[in-house]
Amino acid sequence: MEHPRGYDEYAVVAEFYDYVVPYRERRDVDFFVELARQSGGPVLEIGSGTGRVLIPTARAGVEIVGLDSSASMMEVCRAKLAHEPQEVQTKVQLVEGDMRQFDLGREFRLVTVPFRPFQHLISVEDQMASLATIRRHLLAGDSLVLDLFNPSLPHLADDRFLEDLNREPPFTMPDGRRVLRRHHILGRDFFRQTQEVELIYRVTYPDGHEERFVHRFVMRYLFRYEAEHLLARSGFEVEQVYADYDKSPYGSKYPGELILVAKKA
Ligand SMILES: C[S@@+](CC[C@H](N)C(=O)[O-])C[C@H]1O[C@@H](n2cnc3c(N)ncnc32)[C@H](O)[C@@H]1O
Repeated sequence: MEHPRGYDEYAVVAEFYDYVVPYRERRDVDFFVELARQSGGPVLEIGSGTGRVLIPTARAGVEIVGLDSSASMMEVCRAKLAHEPQEVQTKVQLVEGDMRQFDLGREFRLVTVPFRPFQHLISVEDQMASLATIRRHLLAGDSLVLDLFNPSLPHLADDRFLEDLNREPPFTMPDGRRVLRRHHILGRDFFRQTQEVELIYRVTYPDGHEERFVHRFVMRYLFRYEAEHLLARSGFEVEQVYADYDKSPYGSKYPGELILVAKKA
């Protein structure tokens, strides 16, 4: 099931997002902060969510604009920013918008799409619309970093890998609620290269009563050469393909990540 444009599919999970253990433990922040520093800024982060990467970038002194289509994720980001010192807050601008079509009326030295937002785009038309829009916001020679998961062939076809994901530990919210999250794949479309994913958040309140929240979405996976062709077709020149945030080269581990650094040709 694909959601219509404008539907905030992250609304049910925005408050939990920063506490989810595998999100909290992701080792990608330094990679993006370092690239932002090297670019000198300003940086545009697409799908900036709760500011997991955006806030450390601003703390490093780099001007950054965060664009996200989810009002609820932005609200969490705004609340976190309000606790930052003034000099960090002034480095940040948040814009609610859709990566397929936006116009910020300015250009950036670096555009990043950390932690898979691009994979929420299901059709090639949407992917190309987004890349054309991003390209208009870059100066010639400046870079885009696309952060995708590298599709593992065994995992795409088989539910066994979910056992690993579903060993994810529970977490506790500041108000004492305990949350256990579980993953399900509702559907696989090998022709469209999509998976329909359901994440269930089982919440137990301190008084013992329980609630269940469901985050359901479709993700499209891209293979390495497909992503490279797509970028070339959209006016980018691929400079680096990494398997991890430590910059190990693509192919050095399997499945690893699929991180592409491409400059505006
Ligand atoms: C997995 S989260 C990643 C958030 C953040 N980049 C991070 O690293 O924690 C994906 C984000 O992409 C955003 N997103 C999904 N589709 C989008 C679209 N079409 N335009 C802009 N943002 C989108 C979601 O609202 C969500 O905040």
